[in-house]
Amino acid sequence: MDKAKTAFLVTVLIVPALSGQTPAALKVDLNRPKTPVSPTLYGLMTEEINYSYDGGLYAELIRNRTFRSDWSGILNWFLLEKGAASAKVSVDTREGPSAALPSSAKLEVTRADANSPAGLLNEGYWGIAVRPNARYTGSLFARTDAGSSLLMKIALVGDESGQVLASAAVTLGGAAWKEYKFQMQSGNVAASSENHLEMTIDRPATLWLQLVSLFPPTYHDRPHGNRIDIMQKLAAMHPSFLRFPGGNYLEGGRIDTRFDWKKMIGPLVDRPTHPTTWSYHSTDGMGLLEYLDWCEDLRMEPVLAVYAGYSLGGLVVKPGPDLDPYVQDALDEIEYVAGATGTKWGDVRARDGHAAPFKLRYVEVGNEDNFDRARTYDGRYAQFFKAIKAKYPNLQVIATMPVKGVTPDVVDDHYYNREQRMFELARHYDNADRNGPKIFVGEWATREGTPTPNLGAALGDAAFLTGLERNSDLVVMAAYAPLFVNVDPGGMQWSTDLIGYNALTSYGSPAYYAQVMFGSCLGEQTMESDLPGAGDKFFYSVTASKGAKLCMKLVNAASTTQPVTITLNGLGAGTHAAQLDTLKANTIWATNTITNPSRIVPVRSTLALKGERLEHVMPPYSIQVLEVNLK
Ligand code: AHR
Repeated sequence: MDKAKTAFLVTVLIVPALSGQTPAALKVDLNRPKTPVSPTLYGLMTEEINYSYDGGLYAELIRNRTFRSDWSGILNWFLLEKGAASAKVSVDTREGPSAALPSSAKLEVTRADANSPAGLLNEGYWGIAVRPNARYTGSLFARTDAGSSLLMKIALVGDESGQVLASAAVTLGGAAWKEYKFQMQSGNVAASSENHLEMTIDRPATLWLQLVSLFPPTYHDRPHGNRIDIMQKLAAMHPSFLRFPGGNYLEGGRIDTRFDWKKMIGPLVDRPTHPTTWSYHSTDGMGLLEYLDWCEDLRMEPVLAVYAGYSLGGLVVKPGPDLDPYVQDALDEIEYVAGATGTKWGDVRARDGHAAPFKLRYVEVGNEDNFDRARTYDGRYAQFFKAIKAKYPNLQVIATMPVKGVTPDVVDDHYYNREQRMFELARHYDNADRNGPKIFVGEWATREGTPTPNLGAALGDAAFLTGLERNSDLVVMAAYAPLFVNVDPGGMQWSTDLIGYNALTSYGSPAYYAQVMFGSCLGEQTMESDLPGAGDKFFYSVTASKGAKLCMKLVNAASTTQPVTITLNGLGAGTHAAQLDTLKANTIWATNTITNPSRIVPVRSTLALKGERLEHVMPPYSIQVLEVNLK
């Protein structure tokens, strides 16, 4: 290409990108509150998908702790024969520590000594994270034919170096199943995830093993608790509720693989585990009480979704007597969550370790029942609604689609779209009916970028959220989905997920940071405002709490700058402290990754507003939150 042509192209391609849009005038009247803003607008939605819990939030380090197998052998476990040792491992389907776990790994060591130990290796969830000076808490069930005192060594070992990074020993003994507990401590090692677990013995013996578990330090030090880094990321979003356990995970592929909550409470040894909708098996370590503990840790209120007789494979339980046991199951579940001690299921919860009932205001009946081809949801919803209201008249009962027969308290709308459609949806609720049920946007996301959304998706999200804030007298709650993805190969079933991680670290996508920003400042009322002159890729919302703070969300989804004259009528002539958080990038495809987690993060500046007028210029492709101190 000759020089003249190159110069021409540069002019055509670059000059328009540098020029700004026509100035806009955003006028806000601080003396005229408009509509109330729901204090529960921002929350979280979660289910077991993309290794959200196992290999994700649930901090268990051992993969396949219950020794499931397929044609290739026991999954994620491998035989260790060091030196001259000789051993074999198989699944014994007749030997297990409980009715829920009736099988075990049978390890037959025929030759071993101190220099030639034999045993098993676990690969973890794409490795096992070992950090310096960390305490690891483990347990296992075992029985042995070895009579008394069979010493088993347990170690976290570097894959490459072979170095023992932390170790413990347990003395096994006796033919009866027993639980053994152990602790190990790492030294001053470098943090890494390229490690595995080794369990070995150094003399011939046969032993049976089940439920081998190992946890690192967890958030709030909960036994069998959650990963600290991921919980901290969630806390930064200021979520007010948690919708669980799904999503499709609630429904299951079949009725018998639904979220069967009674099989997911109490000691781990009494949980049978189950196949999920998302092509992998759940340990069910994240059971009903663990979800509630998670709520308690982040001060979120539970939004409990109960199984409603429809499973994803198309199987439906007919309304009427066939559905009665499932309705009873939901009533029992509600009692487990919110019943006082002295009630049957309140007492079970207390036995499980939480005597105080949890505050529960919302129960959702099913998930996406618009997919039920038999069209039975009207009848199923009505049956649940009546039974729940009869026992718990104050509960708000959410329907997963509009229904006939009874009027739901709240209807759950879901949106998964590209950026342009989310821009349109930013105005979706502006003229919606205010006399019907309230709206819960129980799942939404701009789906651009994988495994996690890019800046363009964050712009679509932020534009959409301005619409939800503006209409939050109607939209009482909203939650992005899916929340999590394990970014290791095979970890993802659904592309575009808010927070990514591997065994060692986690990162927030640009869309995550947009929500951190939006959740950080939300007033109690929307304010009368107007905005003549802005382009069609400019979005905003204004909320305020009288005498406290003004929160302005600004989204410039255009590739050019957007000058805005902001007038805050009623602010007064004095000086007001303000802070401005900005998230931006040069292209809509810019993103964060597990290896580059901080390319696009909010940048804060502080300013002093003098008088009621502010001449502001928004950068291209940017999201801003302006918080003004009204005190
Ligand atoms: O968020 C992923 C899936 O999308 C949910 O499980 C389901 O409710 C929706 O279809």
